[in-house]
Amino acid sequence: MSMERTLVLLKPDCVQRRLVGEVISRFERKGLNIIAMKMLQVTPDLAKQHYAEHVEKPFYPGLESFITSSPIFALVLEGLEVIRVVRDMLGATSGLKAAAGTIRGDFSSSRQMNLVHASDGPEAAAREIELYFNADEVLPYEPTLTPSLRAGDE
Ligand code: PPS
Repeated sequence: MSMERTLVLLKPDCVQRRLVGEVISRFERKGLNIIAMKMLQVTPDLAKQHYAEHVEKPFYPGLESFITSSPIFALVLEGLEVIRVVRDMLGATSGLKAAAGTIRGDFSSSRQMNLVHASDGPEAAAREIELYFNADEVLPYEPTLTPSLRAGDE
């Protein structure tokens, strides 16, 4: 098991619907470590960089308009296998398909307004963290709770 970092975005719908605390609370209760967090307005240019692989797709104009519509929160989470763990916590891309108990399954009924983005692999995580944070804005620390969260050999 490897210690990883992932980029999470709490999208405009998450902020507008006052679900920021609920979503962050789920990550905290899971035992994940928040090592960076900021509120920001995504610009069209940042959106194009973030969603570079989707820019040519028919849904991109709507996606850009949505992600730039109002402020978001960006977080870096750290933990064992955190990239997969967070994707599992989010559920399938569309809130209509996401399993009950996942964040999207519980709170979203949309593919576009699916509340939260999370990196889908190690390369995406490294690229996306650099896109949203300067190196000195990422503040890793050793949680004093670690011995209560997992065994020493995990
Ligand atoms: S995923 O979860 O990243 O694998 O999903 P993917 O299917 O690759 O989609 C990437 C992002 O594009 C958004 N998306 C859409 N928005 C609007 N309409 C349609 N049809 C659509 N299809 C995909 C989707 O919400 C994903 O956003 P992120 O921020 O990555 O969750």
